[in-house]
Amino acid sequence: MVYTHAALCESMRLYPPVPFDTKEAIDNDVLPDGIVVKKGVRVSYHPYVMGRGQRLAGFSTGEMVREGPNCRKMEFHGKRLVHYKVVPTAEEGWKPVFNSYLTSKMEGGSLGKASPSSQVAKLPRSYPLIGSSFAIFANRNRRNQWFAEILRNTPTGSFVLHRPFGAHQIFTANPTNVQHILKTQFHLYPKGDFFRTTLSDFLGDGIFNVDGETWKFQRQVSSHEFNTKSLRKFVETVVETELSDRLLPILSAAAAEKSVLDLQDILQRFAFDNICTIAFGFDPKYLLPSLPPTEFAVAFEDAVRLSTERLYAIFPTIWKVKRVLGLGSEKDLRQAVSQVRQFAENIVREKKEELKEKSSLETVDLLSRILNSGHLDENFVIDIVISFILAGRDTTSAALTWFFWLISGNPDAEEEILKEIRDGPEAPVYDEVKDMVYTHAALCESMRLYPPVPSDTKEAAGDDVLPDGIVVKKGARVTYHPYAMGRMEGLWGGDWSEFRPERWLQRDPVAGKWSFVGRDWYTYTVFQAGPRICIGKDMAFLQMKRVVSGVLRQYRVVPATEEGFKPVFISYLTSKMKGGFPVRIEERAES
Ligand code: HEM
Repeated sequence: MVYTHAALCESMRLYPPVPFDTKEAIDNDVLPDGIVVKKGVRVSYHPYVMGRGQRLAGFSTGEMVREGPNCRKMEFHGKRLVHYKVVPTAEEGWKPVFNSYLTSKMEGGSLGKASPSSQVAKLPRSYPLIGSSFAIFANRNRRNQWFAEILRNTPTGSFVLHRPFGAHQIFTANPTNVQHILKTQFHLYPKGDFFRTTLSDFLGDGIFNVDGETWKFQRQVSSHEFNTKSLRKFVETVVETELSDRLLPILSAAAAEKSVLDLQDILQRFAFDNICTIAFGFDPKYLLPSLPPTEFAVAFEDAVRLSTERLYAIFPTIWKVKRVLGLGSEKDLRQAVSQVRQFAENIVREKKEELKEKSSLETVDLLSRILNSGHLDENFVIDIVISFILAGRDTTSAALTWFFWLISGNPDAEEEILKEIRDGPEAPVYDEVKDMVYTHAALCESMRLYPPVPSDTKEAAGDDVLPDGIVVKKGARVTYHPYAMGRMEGLWGGDWSEFRPERWLQRDPVAGKWSFVGRDWYTYTVFQAGPRICIGKDMAFLQMKRVVSGVLRQYRVVPATEEGFKPVFISYLTSKMKGGFPVRIEERAES
């Protein structure tokens, strides 16, 4: 079994069972490379380091050498391991840690399915007074992945996280609980004081941060923006122009120059121009070939990040004190928020001027509608503007970034999408975009795995018991978790980790056409559910499908990353690909 022998040698080169060995010189000596050794000195040689030295064997450091002149491609999963397939069940981003005490070990076990005793992400240990602060701190850079691991291994898909000083937060990935929170007992689960106070410097009274009448007013006034007439206009004018005049020329230039683009940045610029144009009738022109500096966008991002860090703080008193004293991150937040508000204020002032000159019929955007509704305090209008920018900029861009990443590794799905695009016209209009069912399914599937809003928290306004028996005390925070829910075997089957748009589709046996089969909003919670379900979801799908059809018809998006690269999912209110998404653009041959 020479090949297996070679694979074992190769594996031990990277992870040697005895990572180093030490001798003691019994006399003075000089090593061949000139190092002087005195009697009694300890001399170690280090198999772990030697297995990773590029100069020693030309290894590409850290890579398992799979192919070479004398070596066939080796598959660790699948056919070669005939009886068993050993699949790590760890969350994305997990890296085993090599640890050694004379002999080596994988810290914390292998998390392989083959060893059920080691795979369970245990409930975090809780201590008096500090609760589970140690575990929360240890997992601070992989919160979503950590919660998903825990929730996947609980019997009812819920658990209670103990926070310092007896506070606790309930996490659930159980659709029956979600329906209870978001619909049946909607009145009992508002955003609440904690969320509101923590985000109020940034979001003020914007729709994301309020309950009751203030919420209802904004929901009602913005609903006009999302009727069929407005959506038709949105996709056929705003998206179309941004796509053909800005995005496609940039991609064409990148293809010709073979340059690398950060697709995440490009898509954020696209979405930002889009939302400002449709909601405020103002075009910030961020997606230009020169990719101009986006000072406002940077300030906006800082404000989102720093506000979210407040939400995650283990001891919130610390940020409150820093805020009073104007120190550190709170000083930065104040500056970022002030820049954001200044920008929003300019939009509002310009719109007011415009409204003085034009009739209300000529200006039909959301901002005009709000200002025409009268009696509105300027600060409140600014809050509304900021929430809409947040809703429109970061969600579709995150969804599309992950979509293009997944498509680049799934040629069969890409082929199906291309078929659908090529069966339609070059510049599809509203109804044709709506009819792109395979693309729709692929986007749903992509957001199942990488939801733009990975978790959402409510605060109990009274005592309650969730359908799975968890007791909720008034004031407790209750979080449902779309990221975890998209990864539950019980909800999506054993192949939950696979990107498979077909799980959303049915093929008509006679006509051979796909039709879309949705899941209920309490299982697929990517857009929330119940009375506060995302009001912009149809707009989002139209925009994303039109972008996909425009881009993929002409270009292939190829990740410009190292082999084996795995993007890391991070989130600050909305999600992102950590460090951006570097890609090359390749022109497609006509077919
Ligand atoms: C793929 C894209 C999108 C996703 C996944 C998404 C998801 C969500 C989620 C989870 C919420 C609930 C958030 C919360 O209450 O904390 C929400 C609310 C909302 N979304 Fe979206 N969204 C998307 C795109 C958009 C777009 C393009 C708009 C247009 C402006 C929009 C407008 C809104 C608004 C106004 C709310 C507040 C609704 C309310 O509280 O009643 N969304 N969205």
